[in-house]
Amino acid sequence: MFITFEGLDGSGKSTQLRLLAGSLTTRGYPVVSTRNPGGTPLGDSIRALILDSRTDAAVGGIAPETEMALMFADRAQSLHQIIRPALAAGAIVLCDRYTDSSEAYQGAGRGLGPDRILAMHRAVCHNQQPDLTILLLPPLAASLARARRRNERHLRTRGTDENRFEREDDGFYARIYDQYETIAAREPDRVLALRDEASIERIATTVLAAVLERLPSPSAPRTP
Ligand code: ADP
Ligand code: TYD
Repeated sequence: MFITFEGLDGSGKSTQLRLLAGSLTTRGYPVVSTRNPGGTPLGDSIRALILDSRTDAAVGGIAPETEMALMFADRAQSLHQIIRPALAAGAIVLCDRYTDSSEAYQGAGRGLGPDRILAMHRAVCHNQQPDLTILLLPPLAASLARARRRNERHLRTRGTDENRFEREDDGFYARIYDQYETIAAREPDRVLALRDEASIERIATTVLAAVLERLPSPSAPRTP
């Protein structure tokens, strides 16, 4: 089973992914966790390049199409090196962001349009879709405030900068939020949208229940 986590920066994706990985592992399921961008050596390099706020000045500005292509270069490598091998070995793969992020951020946020993103997904990812997407949609202001607090903490403690997207205005994030709503309405069987501003524990309980109801028991014989 291939599960992705989506939402704005600071919506709680990484927190929920970590909790779900722990709960599934405790129940005996093999789990592989990864993220986009990143996770592979090449992906980590792409991540450092496109998330660092100093990159624009260093390279003379990243064009929206370049940003889209780099996100898909990262994703192709992630599918090749991590996601497909793990699925073939029978693991549950948990991925922090995937193509819905490109549709929301580059398609809507940068204005490239969803059709170009979905065409790229067919060409580069062989249209590989998640079985389930957990879409975390707390109110926009709450997400962004949390992301900014967390990034200030990271900058102080680790010295790394992943702030490039955070310099965007609120309109950029409003377009992303709306595109996530569009994706959820378009694919209700795949996308579980959680809009409450609930506690971390309550969201984790809902996410685990949604996943367990789609999984066979870990000891049950698997169909070939
Ligand atoms: P993301 O991966 O979506 O950017 P994180 O999981 O890193 O988000 O969460 C961002 C911050 O918000 C973290 O400090 C986290 O502890 C906090 N957080 C996550 N979920 C909640 C929640 N439901 N309520 C309050 N704070 C939360
Ligand atoms: P991430 O590390 O998940 O950030 P956060 O924890 O703050 O949510 O993702 C990094 C940034 O990259 C985030 O601002 C969204 C952006 N992004 C895209 O613009 N397009 C994409 O295809 C992906 C995967 C991420």
